Order: sequence, then C-alpha cells, then structure tokens
Amino acid sequence: MVLGVEMALKILALGGDGIGPEVVHSGLQVLEAVAATVSLKLDISEDVLHGAAFDAYGVFVRKETLHQAHHSDALLVGAVGGPKWDHIVVEGGPEEQDGLMKLRHELEVFASLRWARAYDPLLSRTPFRPEVVRNSDVMVVRELCGGAMFSPTRGIDNAGESRRAYDLNEYTEAEIVRFARIGFEVARRRTGKLLSVDKANVFMAGKLWREVVQEIGESEFPDVALTHFFADNAAYQLSCNPGDFDVILADNLFGDILSDQSAAVSGSLGMLPSACLSELPQSGRSERPAIYEPVHGSAPDIAGAGIANPIGTILSVAMLLEYSAGESVGARKISTAVEAVLQAGFTTPDLGGKHTSQQMTDEVIRQVRRI
Ligand code: IPM
Ligand code: MG
Repeated sequence: MVLGVEMALKILALGGDGIGPEVVHSGLQVLEAVAATVSLKLDISEDVLHGAAFDAYGVFVRKETLHQAHHSDALLVGAVGGPKWDHIVVEGGPEEQDGLMKLRHELEVFASLRWARAYDPLLSRTPFRPEVVRNSDVMVVRELCGGAMFSPTRGIDNAGESRRAYDLNEYTEAEIVRFARIGFEVARRRTGKLLSVDKANVFMAGKLWREVVQEIGESEFPDVALTHFFADNAAYQLSCNPGDFDVILADNLFGDILSDQSAAVSGSLGMLPSACLSELPQSGRSERPAIYEPVHGSAPDIAGAGIANPIGTILSVAMLLEYSAGESVGARKISTAVEAVLQAGFTTPDLGGKHTSQQMTDEVIRQVRRI
C-alpha cells in the first residue's frame, strides 16, 4: 500500500434536506479549489440522508451509506429534517429517528467542536456593542453521543392519570474521560484555558462530570487552566462578556444550547462550522472517519432560493482539512479567504446582505487561489 499522504482523501458528501444540498455544493467547490492548491487528491462520493433518503428509500439512512461512511476519511453533511418528516416515528432509540444522529452514533464521533468567531466587518450585525464582542473566539466542545439526548431510557408513559415523559440523563466515567481528553487537547492547542460547564449543584450526572473533568485535568493536563461554571451562569456570562470565553466543555444538551448561543458573536448561526470527532490526531491524517457539518439547520423556508449562507459549511471544510487531512495550510487558506470575503462586503441575507450563496462561494474560491 502506498503511503497515506499519497492516497486520495475519501469524502462522503451528504447534502441532507432543505438548504443542506446547496451549502454542501458550496463546500465541495471550495474543497476542490483548495485541494488543487495544496496537491491533495480527493475521492468524493455523494449520497442522500434523512428526509431525502426517506423519500427515495423509505429509511433515514441506508445500510450502503453507513458502510460507505465507515470507509471514508470524512463526511461533509449539510443539514437534515423538515416538517415533511417530523411526524415519522421509527422503531428504536433516538438515533433511529434522525439520519444525522444515526451517523454520529454509528461512527461514535463523541466530540463536536463548534467554532464561533467575531468578524470585524460583521460586528454591527451582532446583538453586542462592538467593544464587547470584538475578537471573541469561542470553541464549544460538545459531547455528542451520550447524555439525555441519546439515552435508551426514554419514553412517554400513558398508564397513569397524567401522561409521564422521561429521558434519562446519564454519563459513565469512561464517556466523560474520553471526551474531556479531547477538550483539554483542544484547549492546549489554543490558549490553554478550558471552562467546563455542568449543573453539579443539582444533578448527579453533573457531580460526576465535574469530578472526572477535574481529575483528568490534574493528572494529564496540569498545563491547562481549568475552571468550572454552572451551565446557567455560563449562559449568562456568555451573553454579557463573550470575549472572556475560549474553550467551553459541555455535555450533549448544554453543548447544543451553548453552541447556538455562541453563534451570536458571529452575527448569524449560518457562520458556524463544526467537526465531530472520535480522536484528535497530533498531526497528519486521522485514522477514524469524522463528520463535518454547519451548525445551522435545514431552513426549509429558504431552500432552493440560492441565498443560504454557505460560510458555516465552507469553514467546516477548513476544519475537515485540519482534523481529518492534517492540512493546516489548506485550512488556514480557507479561514483567511473567508475573512477577506467578508471584509470586501460580501454577505448573504441572514447577515443583511444581498449576495447569493454562489457569489459568496465564487469569491471565497477567488481568494483561496490568490492567497
Ligand atoms: C445540532 C442540532 C441537532 C442536535 C438536532 C437536529 C438533532 O440541533 O446539531 O445542534 O441537537 O444535535
Ligand atoms: Mg443544535
């Protein structure tokens, strides 16, 4: 077998629903443009996911798609869901109800890195005063395969006088350990600060969370400055002083909420990329498939209009290059190109602009080739 660096990077592109296919199309165009500048070979295949898969095959994810996912280096996913499929209930746990959750579960990508930055040209589009938000750069590291959101202990019980619904919020020590290690490592690669979020004042799962994160910090990452906040206080502080935040370590539910909240510093949820990982390689290619997806949803109301903000997906491609391909030069080219495009005044309507997704994409590609 030839050396890994010479092999094509295997990408599985899954547009999903709503604006998903449009933004993935943008992301792939940028990926191809950057790959050409850094001599990276790509092997891209495309497939359907969730609603689009249900319409075509009657399942949210096909077996063939799962097989292909396991044999890929990286998946680029758009967004899934929409009112057309909301009522469909499939037998099995939460992961069976959603094509994307199934993929996360199947590939065990238990750490989602969600990156929110303040961009100077967009400061006035944020709800913050410029001096409060300028230079904010928040990385929410969200646990992605456990907790209440993936609990098999869930249901709606109709037996009593009043219906009873429950979703068990549980974490094992092993789940917290493997996840915390990624958070600490991310913090180490940034500014060496990690804020862990929980509700240790109320929940048993929160108590264990805090204890285990503290132990991992002391024993394995003494160089990282670890602090703990209760989740409600973290949300409040994040809305007052986003510039004080760096890496936030949170469970599945708090991470879901705080990552959307952190998007306010960018001016639009459409700006946020994510990397869903099961390992954080020191350098070079990752051995395990990862999922890259914008944080936004499928936005059925603007699907097909050609105006979706493609930047969340384009920056997800930057994260793909960084974490799955070991191509930090290519990754940097994309983030620099995005800054230049925003500086030149290009924005989609979610940020008050008039540009189309394709105009934004073309401009990012032009900048990538120039850098
Ligand atoms: C996200 C989304 C998903 C989640 C939904 C669509 C299941 O909100 O990626 O943040 O909660 O994980
Ligand atoms: Mg969410």
